[in-house]
This record gives sequence, C-alpha cells and structure tokens, in this order.
Amino acid sequence: MQFSDAFIQTLTWLIPLPPLLAFALIVLVTNRSKTLSHVTAIGLMGLSWVMSWIVFYYTLSIEHFGEHVIAALSEYMRTLICKDTAYDKFVGGDKAALSEQQQRGLDVFLGKGKCSTCHAPPFFSSAMGVKGGAYFNVGVGTENVPEDKVDVGRMKVSTQATDWAAFKPPSLRNVTRSAPYFHNGSVAKLEDAVKIMAGGGIANKNKSPLLTDTGLTDAERADLIAFLGALECPGTLEEPKLP
Ligand code: HEC
Repeated sequence: MQFSDAFIQTLTWLIPLPPLLAFALIVLVTNRSKTLSHVTAIGLMGLSWVMSWIVFYYTLSIEHFGEHVIAALSEYMRTLICKDTAYDKFVGGDKAALSEQQQRGLDVFLGKGKCSTCHAPPFFSSAMGVKGGAYFNVGVGTENVPEDKVDVGRMKVSTQATDWAAFKPPSLRNVTRSAPYFHNGSVAKLEDAVKIMAGGGIANKNKSPLLTDTGLTDAERADLIAFLGALECPGTLEEPKLP
C-alpha cells in the first residue's frame, strides 16, 4: 500500500487556504480594498489559520489516518510467522527437541491441565482458523471492578450477554517473551498467568464452564511452564527494511 495516500486529504483540503491567507495579507499591507477593513482582513487571516489547524487535526484523526496505520500494522504482523519451535521439531519426529520436563509439561497441557480446550495446537489458540473466532470469559479484569466499569470484551461487538467480558484466547507461541499478560496487561509474570488459568480463572457472573480448577501440583505447573518455553519462536525481531 501507498502510505503517502494518508496525506492526500490534507493536500486537497489545504489548497484554498494559502490564497486566502495571501489575499488577506495583501489587503492588510496595501490597504487598497474599499470593501475590506483591516479588521476584516485580520479576521480572515485568523480564520484561515484556525481552518488549517482544524484540517490538520481532522486528517490525523483515527477515522482517516488511523485506518492506514491499522492496515500497515496488519501487513507487518502478517510477516511475523512463528514456526520451527522446539515443539514443532518434536511433533515432526525429533524426540530430543523437548527435555523430559517439557515432555511432562506437554502431557499436562493436553491432559490434566485441559489447556488445549482453548489453546489447541498447532496455533495454541482455539480462536485461530475458526470462522468468527472463539471467545471465553476467564474472569480477567472483573475482580474488584464495579460491574458497569468492566471491559465487556466480545459483547461490545456481538451485543450478546453470553459474551460479557469474554476475550479471544491468545496464541501461546512465544508466550515466554510476551509479558505483560492478558488483554489488560494486568499480570507481569508468566508463572502468575499460568497459576490463574490452572486455578480455574477468576469467578464472575459469566465465567466459562470450560475453565475449572484442574488441581495441578506445583511440580506439574513448573513442567507446564517449562513446556511453554518450547513454543519460543527462533530468531529475533528485526526492524523490517522499508521501501
Ligand atoms: C476456557 C478457555 C481457556 C482454557 C481452558 C485455558 N485458557 Fe488460557 N486463556 C484463555 C483466554 C480467553 C485468555 C485471554 C484472557 C484475557 O486476555 O483476558 C487466556 C490467556 C492465557 C494466557 C495469557 C497469554 C497472553 O499472551 O496474555 C496464558 C499464559 C494462558 N492463557 C495459559 C493457559 C494455560 C497454561 C491453560 C491450562 C492450564 C489455559 N490457559 C487454559 C482461555 C483459556
């Protein structure tokens, strides 16, 4: 896409303004006009000045400028593909790609911990590859917040009461490097995020029945976290070369 498109509105809107400003200036300096007084000329200049600022801010507003920024970010994010993790190697047949602890963690993830209900491999998010996505209320952001102040999440779009405070399960690929956690960034450490999820989330009027306290031991939770390390994407994030 042409990023410069974002500025076209400014150009077309601003074209009448410089002549208006010049006209007002000439009237003021030469005082040749019989119809315009100094006061009117100064008024015109002021008006054109104010108008240029209004146009400037209007163009920068989210409806006009923002859509180009969102499109550019989406283009960039489409280039961020996470594959060839230790987990991918393991399921591809390289049994040495995961440590013993990570293999135990994988068992907990798929079995006792029931994480794969909402974070199903290979995306580690059950919302991906499903038409319309998938949204669950796990209670994050509902604790100690008056009900009318809670972020209603998916309900904002669907208007369904069943979607109240429901959010998309994010992919857990690279999760070890994506702190802070949850839609509101309320949890700083992965250990604490996993503790909340394994403990059945946070009770509220609409919590998903699919998330329950699975009674994991400390050792099982440690295995689970070690396994999440196997979802780290190889490589580093480089600033892309812009055309
Ligand atoms: C009922 C569906 C469901 C189940 C089961 C579930 N999760 Fe989640 N998980 C979610 C949703 C939804 C979010 C996003 C919540 C939010 O942002 O408010 C989430 C977020 C997370 C996050 C934070 C990721 C980030 O980038 O912010 C981690 C870590 C996580 N889950 C781990 C787990 C683990 C480990 C298990 C198993 C013990 C598990 N989840 C079970 C639905 C689920």
